[in-house]
Amino acid sequence: MQPVLEMRGITKRFPGVLALDNVDFNLMHGEVHALVGANGAGKSTLMKVLAGAYPDYEGQVAIAGRVCEMRTPRQAQQSGVAVIHQEFSLVPTLTAAENIMLGMEPRRSTSFPGNMLLNKKALAERSVRLLGELGFTAVDPRARVSDLGVAEQQLVQIAKAIAANARILVMDEPTARLSRAERDELFKVMFRLRDAGTSIVYISHFLEEVFRVASRVTVLRDGQVVAVRAVDELDRRTLVHHMLGREITAGDKVRLEDSSTHGRQSAGKGEEIMVVRGLGRRGKFEDVSFSLRRGEILGIAGLVGSGRTELARAIFGADGSVKTGSIKMKGRDYAPSNPRAAVASGLALLPEDRKQQGLVLVRPVSDNVLLPVTATFTRGPFLDHRRRKQQVSSMTTRLNIKSASPAVQVGTLSGGNQQKVVLAKWLSASPDILILDQPTAGVDVGTKEEIYLFLRQLAAAGRALIMISDDPEELSRVCDRVMVMQRGRVVRELDGDFAVSDVLTAVTGDY
Ligand SMILES: Nc1ncnc2c1ncn2[C@@H]1O[C@H](COP(=O)(O)OP(=O)(O)OP(=O)(O)O)[C@@H](O)[C@H]1O
Ligand SMILES: [Mg+2]
Repeated sequence: MQPVLEMRGITKRFPGVLALDNVDFNLMHGEVHALVGANGAGKSTLMKVLAGAYPDYEGQVAIAGRVCEMRTPRQAQQSGVAVIHQEFSLVPTLTAAENIMLGMEPRRSTSFPGNMLLNKKALAERSVRLLGELGFTAVDPRARVSDLGVAEQQLVQIAKAIAANARILVMDEPTARLSRAERDELFKVMFRLRDAGTSIVYISHFLEEVFRVASRVTVLRDGQVVAVRAVDELDRRTLVHHMLGREITAGDKVRLEDSSTHGRQSAGKGEEIMVVRGLGRRGKFEDVSFSLRRGEILGIAGLVGSGRTELARAIFGADGSVKTGSIKMKGRDYAPSNPRAAVASGLALLPEDRKQQGLVLVRPVSDNVLLPVTATFTRGPFLDHRRRKQQVSSMTTRLNIKSASPAVQVGTLSGGNQQKVVLAKWLSASPDILILDQPTAGVDVGTKEEIYLFLRQLAAAGRALIMISDDPEELSRVCDRVMVMQRGRVVRELDGDFAVSDVLTAVTGDY
């Protein structure tokens, strides 16, 4: 059978980086084909070539046997390709509905304004209907995209791509920001499209998803194809080996090797650093109480919309001060009215929405990593360049940040590597209390393990951590305790020896 898509000998260079090195990739009719690889392996770049984003690619792209030039986004679109990009690609000031219909040309062009208006209305109605059909009921079509949460924004991006009626649909990390329920909904939609003949390229760092949705996998490593396999012939271990070129042992509780500071057991012994009592914010969360000790990692589990992110932001002084309840930090009343006050009190927050809140994309990697500590790395009126350099290189090595050099703009890094830069930034600040909202979303399996160790080390060094996560495995492996939230309330707390299944049951339970 002839592939719907055949990419042959694709090569793409960036200054100092050979992002794709003679890559072959093919996609069959009605197939879901997973594209996997570590952060920076070249997945997004390959799909951007297909989307017409890089006119200078070398090699050949054929659609249904015909060689096509993919030198502009328009050429790609006309060949039936639609891409859900990894990074945010919506217009924030437009509504969800407007974004979905953006770029969809009216069938017949006309200069009569009345007709255009009608067309606009029809398109808006169509996007509302589409959202309904997709089951994306969380999205208000009339809401401005800038007012939507990250999960809803992701749903809008998906709806937009699906609205294009493409024969080849590329999904680059579509689920990194979705709840389980939304994921299941998305998979149903995918299967429906697949059964109707759409061919889908699926990129994800959640390997369970790869096994669940794909029939074949292509593995990229450092810009080269290292394996193309049917999913049936693969197990997780082999797949990880292809991706990283080495084995990793995952699955157990994350422990530090040095037994004097072995994560879990030492927890609960540290000084109580924060006590939260009856905290609430109207319409977001209510009556939240917990305490936090040095040396421990407190997990917060829950579905999207359960109030976790709002709780974290409130503790961090974002969105103004909280009126209901109280927080004590190191025995003193603590009521930050803004994030700067929170940082001054020794807090840091790694936000969920990194693109908009975490990074200065046009600045070099090094500046971003050092942003919170610039003041401490000075010698008299001058920046202490040697210490700055040391700090940056130690962080980039530990977190395995892949960039041509620390001087390149953060915006040119791969999605996962950008996330690592934000993490490096806040870890450099070495706060007393570090709140992490989905710290490993979009990060590859190898680096996740590094991050887990890093977090345990911070705890062992006397910091206190709060980690919001959607991944039950991660919560059960990394956290000492897990607080479960539903509809703005804490409904359960897991402590002691709990497993993945306990977290999963607690999150989806009926309270
Ligand atoms: N616009 C750009 N300018 C310079 N270098 C780039 C650019 N885009 C990507 N690169 C580099 O190309 C390489 C491949 O990046 P790519 O984004 O394709 O990785 P990826 O496999 O999608 O990773 P991730 O899982 O982190 O999203 C990386 O080294 C990256 O830094
Ligand atoms: Mg990518």
